[in-house]
Amino acid sequence: MKKFFLMSFIFLSIFGVASAALSAEQVVNIYSARHYESDKELYALFQQQTGIRVNVVSANAPELIERIKREGHATEADIFITVDGGVLYSAKAAGILQPITSTLALKNVPDSLRDKDNAWVGLTTRARVIVYAKDRVKPEQLSTYEDLADPRWKGRIVARPSSSLYDQSLLASLITLDGETKALTWVKGITANFARPPKGNDRGQAMDIVAGIGDVALMNTYYIGQMLNSKNPEEVKAAQNIGVFFPNQKSTGTHINVSGIALTKHAKRVDNAVKFIEFLTGVPAQERLSAGNYEFPVNAAAKKHPLLSSWGAFKSQSIDFSALGVNNAKAIQFFAEGGWK
Ligand code: FE2
Repeated sequence: MKKFFLMSFIFLSIFGVASAALSAEQVVNIYSARHYESDKELYALFQQQTGIRVNVVSANAPELIERIKREGHATEADIFITVDGGVLYSAKAAGILQPITSTLALKNVPDSLRDKDNAWVGLTTRARVIVYAKDRVKPEQLSTYEDLADPRWKGRIVARPSSSLYDQSLLASLITLDGETKALTWVKGITANFARPPKGNDRGQAMDIVAGIGDVALMNTYYIGQMLNSKNPEEVKAAQNIGVFFPNQKSTGTHINVSGIALTKHAKRVDNAVKFIEFLTGVPAQERLSAGNYEFPVNAAAKKHPLLSSWGAFKSQSIDFSALGVNNAKAIQFFAEGGWK
């Protein structure tokens, strides 16, 4: 009898200590390739609301995928976050993810913005639009991505180097929609129209348009919001002087890309990770992502930032995001062949 009490006491003590340690140690570990201030604010909010501490490891996506793969069963990563449908496809193909089964998360994100096996769900989208010098180009002169290869744009296009994943994914989408032959011809045509050798980032293209170096460029929509609200007056001025045009409205739709969130295959804190996914895809977090980083929410019930609403509804490409990954190597090859450095 005495022994029984003693055993019970020991058992309860161990159990008690273990569960106390567990509740004191509520964490979720994120490996993220997104680099936005809005994300950090949301992690802090999640921590505040749930008491679950969010630890973030930041690096570029290929590094994170490689690391999760290398760490295998021992990985501390519960969640993987990145931009680009092609990269999400590679993460799935690398075998480092497990399907998300949360009814709530799957309700928050429409089918078209998540993997067909729910290996990842979308977090936000962005459109790659044509921006133009308001004083030199009329929107009526613009129509499609394909049209930018027309010789009448000779010397008028500024672009960033083709090492940018944004343009690689755009080309990957054109390979899917227009076929390889037309896509390669497009690269050659648009490259022949460049006002200068490719350089800079998306913001840089807008700056060069306003500086008069070129008249049109390709740009992700959220940079327009970031520049309009920038502390740098030069960026504000540039953003105010460019027009935003959503191409391919009468044909294949404007190229959009997705940023997404996934549960790692060997996640140790699945419950916390699922709560985190449900939180980020829920309306309040989605509205904060749009308000803070000018991205389009994936949750249809979430309100967009007024700037995004001001552009109106638009038709977007309807291709499986995995095509961006499948065609990535071909896109890089076509850039090289077509002369877009
Ligand atoms: Fe970016």
